[in-house]
Amino acid sequence: MKIRRLGQAVLTLLLAGALWGCALPEQEPEQPRLLMGVSQIGSESAWRIGNTRDIEEQAAVYDVSLMMENANQKQENQIAAIRRFIAYKVDVIAFSPIVEEGWDNVLQEAKDAGIPVILVDRDIRTEKKDLTTCLIGADFYREGVMAAEYLIRKADALGLEQVNIVEITGTENSTPMRQRQAGFYDTIAGDPRMTVLESIDGDFLKSRGAECMRQLLDTYGDSIDVAFSHNDEMTLGALPEIEKAGLVPGSDIIIISIDGGQEAIDVLKEGKINCVVECTPKLGKALMETALKLKAGEEVETLIHPEEQVFSDEMDTSTIGPRGY
Ligand code: AHR
Repeated sequence: MKIRRLGQAVLTLLLAGALWGCALPEQEPEQPRLLMGVSQIGSESAWRIGNTRDIEEQAAVYDVSLMMENANQKQENQIAAIRRFIAYKVDVIAFSPIVEEGWDNVLQEAKDAGIPVILVDRDIRTEKKDLTTCLIGADFYREGVMAAEYLIRKADALGLEQVNIVEITGTENSTPMRQRQAGFYDTIAGDPRMTVLESIDGDFLKSRGAECMRQLLDTYGDSIDVAFSHNDEMTLGALPEIEKAGLVPGSDIIIISIDGGQEAIDVLKEGKINCVVECTPKLGKALMETALKLKAGEEVETLIHPEEQVFSDEMDTSTIGPRGY
């Protein structure tokens, strides 16, 4: 008898549970706090890979959903990605333009759709107003200035009377290429010892860094005093070419690089690179905070530059901690 009553009770409970379940209001699908479309340039360097990772990590911290697309170094892929983000009605578009020109049409489409665009890392050139809301990225001009200021100090310390420089630049018409070069040239302009023998486009790639250095060594041989390379990747490509030519990087040729990734810092510690100007890829936190402000209709800063420093043989390099990219 007791067992029958217990069975009835269980049945009643199950029935009540089932009815309760039916009575529940339909569950709303969970909305992300913010949906962001990100068009990344590619994976050309440790810097770029670190930048992508940082954006993904910070998106998780700030509970932002990402549509991340890798353009594999092609502007047309970036334009197509931005069009997909518009069609998908993302809340915010963030992108690092591979070059500065050629974005007017697609950015006008984003503006017409009411989607704010944040520039990350690199800038654009346009005659049109208000296509983008803000820029979060390094002060590339200042990086070029810091590289040149190091060189002037080094030339003083070595007592050099003539300084022959070769330059391996980043992607032609990109913001870091233009501004790093401008900052460097403007700063050495006042120093009559400095001559730029040649400047060639290394496209921020290790393989191109090697090719460019080979070409420069073939042309100028041991009259090269300085190799100024716009990123670590190209520097790391150039160093073995200098060694193959029977020269010692860091002593026969002063090596100046930009980025400050782990591999280049390790080589700086070995003495084969003399100076690395930092360019931090850690832009994700500022990006997420800015995007959330935009979604909330708040004012945002139009330009955010991270703090950056110089690592060089002027310091105790053993104090440089792990870089994280
Ligand atoms: O735009 C930043 C530059 O792009 C970094 O210096 C370089 O390594 C990257 O590919």
